[in-house]
Amino acid sequence: MSVAVIQGASGALGLALSRHILRHTNLKVYALTHKPTSTENELSEKISEGADVSNSKEKIHDRLSVLGDVDVREERGLERAATIVKEREGNDRVRLIACMAGILHTEKSLSAIDPSTALSQFQINTLGHLLTYKHFVPLIPSRKSFQQLASEWASEGEATGSGDPAKGLVDKEGSLCWSMSARVGSIGDNERGGWYSYRASKAAVNQIVRTLDHELINKSSSAIAVGYHPGTVITPFTAPVIGDAAPEPSKGRFSVDQAIEKMVAVMRQVRRRRDVHQGTDARSSGAAGEPEWGGRCWDWKGEKIKW
Ligand SMILES: NC(=O)c1ccc[n+]([C@@H]2O[C@H](COP(=O)([O-])OP(=O)(O)OC[C@H]3O[C@@H](n4cnc5c(N)ncnc54)[C@H](OP(=O)(O)O)[C@@H]3O)[C@@H](O)[C@H]2O)c1
Repeated sequence: MSVAVIQGASGALGLALSRHILRHTNLKVYALTHKPTSTENELSEKISEGADVSNSKEKIHDRLSVLGDVDVREERGLERAATIVKEREGNDRVRLIACMAGILHTEKSLSAIDPSTALSQFQINTLGHLLTYKHFVPLIPSRKSFQQLASEWASEGEATGSGDPAKGLVDKEGSLCWSMSARVGSIGDNERGGWYSYRASKAAVNQIVRTLDHELINKSSSAIAVGYHPGTVITPFTAPVIGDAAPEPSKGRFSVDQAIEKMVAVMRQVRRRRDVHQGTDARSSGAAGEPEWGGRCWDWKGEKIKW
């Protein structure tokens, strides 16, 4: 079965994305959390809340595995999780890796910088994504094995009407590496300053996404790598900054449900331009026609964020 790996799955957006995938696709979900293994059942229940008749709790539980004790600051937890996925699902089954983990400390000036909190942001927001890719990208099908998988879905689909298990969430011709970035990671967009270490950790995650995307192309992986800015979403993450502000979509401020709807709409558009694999990388040439999504950070409107 094809698999989605959601890192940081107990947070507001990670949980909502896991739930969306279970309800609207046929992908199996591996939900990774840094919470202890003793909380796995609790998270599993939360993710399967809202099950309906066509997607009963039992059916959802069959496709959901919660793996606790995966602290992205420690490589061995990620390595253990990747080994579990590989042993249970085999090679070439991961279609989506979503790196959701992130923390925010909002230093307003130099005097507020604390090395250990700054370092935690780099460990979780930046290196945590990189290490997740290190251990899970090898489980993504190459372009060659992807063709084999796609022909299996096509023949199964004829019989069952099911086809691609990702059901359009991920391009039917590929796989996806998705990192939660943020507009404040853009150097060009930095008109106000503040938030030194969060900004820098997200600028660095953009660089990681770009570099990963080159490696995916060079190694003929079926995947594309992108960063994403969800707008301001009302979650525990933003509470210290926005208090109890209400959603105001026209100003880019969303409830979690609204944010997931926007995020999924953008995910569904992401695809690799064919000419990238033919050797002409359209990312720098700005060639007309389809945009190349790979190696860039996109916002909730599906617009490219400047570096
Ligand atoms: N909310 C916004 O307005 C906004 C705006 C721009 C970007 N973002 C980005 O979106 C992502 C999700 O944000 P959110 O609003 O859903 O925040 P959230 O509810 O606070 O979730 C943050 C996630 O980070 C994970 N995490 C924290 N420390 C970890 C560690 N040591 N190891 C593994 N995971 C760890 C937690 O996952 P577990 O407890 O499951 O491990 C949690 O799922 C973040 O990367 C954030 O930077 C959010």
